[in-house]
Amino acid sequence: MNNTLSFEDWIRAHGQRTESALENLLDAANTNPARLHEAMRYAAQGGGKRIRPLLVYAAGELGDEPNEVKQVALDAAAVAIECIHAYSLVHDDLPCMDDDDLRRGRPTVHKAYDEATALLVGDALQTRAFEVLANAPCDADIRLAMIGALASASGSRGMAGGQAIDLDSVGKKLDLAGLKQMHAMKTGALLCCSVQMGGIAAKLNSAQMQHLQNYAQALGLAFQIVDDVLDATADSQTLGKTAGKDAANDKPTYVTLMGLDYAKKAAKDLQETAIASLESFGPKAQALKDLALLVVNRGK
Ligand code: IPE
Ligand code: IPE
Ligand code: MG
Ligand code: MG
Ligand code: MG
Repeated sequence: MNNTLSFEDWIRAHGQRTESALENLLDAANTNPARLHEAMRYAAQGGGKRIRPLLVYAAGELGDEPNEVKQVALDAAAVAIECIHAYSLVHDDLPCMDDDDLRRGRPTVHKAYDEATALLVGDALQTRAFEVLANAPCDADIRLAMIGALASASGSRGMAGGQAIDLDSVGKKLDLAGLKQMHAMKTGALLCCSVQMGGIAAKLNSAQMQHLQNYAQALGLAFQIVDDVLDATADSQTLGKTAGKDAANDKPTYVTLMGLDYAKKAAKDLQETAIASLESFGPKAQALKDLALLVVNRGK
């Protein structure tokens, strides 16, 4: 983070950068088939927090001075991860998964459109993510490494696998290790991939990548714990999604398994672990540290 930029300004600048990169990526709403393209825009542009793109940009700052090629690689990675995330939310809300009507303060995609369109929006956002990485005007080895990282993080050993465990756990009592594993996969994998792609674009060495990975593993778990806590404690208007959904769907969460106080303390401890992992990067890691604080303190 540029020393003259406050974190608020940094977030604003990189949030806007994400929105305009997404706008450039998404087809116009009247592109044939118009209903699908309109629904893809609805899903991707609905005012999310954009934490994953922000993590990409923040990790990208760890390398040497900015250069143009790195910046285009970061833009491609930022929109690619957000497309995968948006797709995961669209499918997560479907009646066959969490059956939710509200997302980002608006009707979910299957409510605003229909279930078949919601399925196709997810499919098409997913492939668009890989398309943007494949076409990124940067070194082929960077493109390939980012594509591999995103594919692993999204698939059956990552987000989709975690979602499968989540669905299979309804009404069951996972033990703490099982819960951590589910959270690491369904949520942690995409957060880890965000900083990994930033690190790839910034050409970090393997020791640096390992520090980043340690940061993101702690942050990923903290992120889902906070999501579980807010589901149990905040209202739907504040959340922009249906509060109390985990209890209503009988999902095992940190709150149901360990209680609210334990969950909050665990998130705080993980935030400290995440920040401590960045020690060796010095001031260049300020944005990543501030993002860890933001994730864990949101809703407070
Ligand atoms: C919600 O993610 C789903 C989880 C992985 C917990 P976010 O809280 O990042 O959702 P948006 O993108 O800000 O809407
Ligand atoms: C979702 O977890 C994780 C995803 C991969 C989408 P949740 O089901 O808790 O997310 P929300 O609370 O609906 O956003
Ligand atoms: Mg879910
Ligand atoms: Mg859900
Ligand atoms: Mg949730």
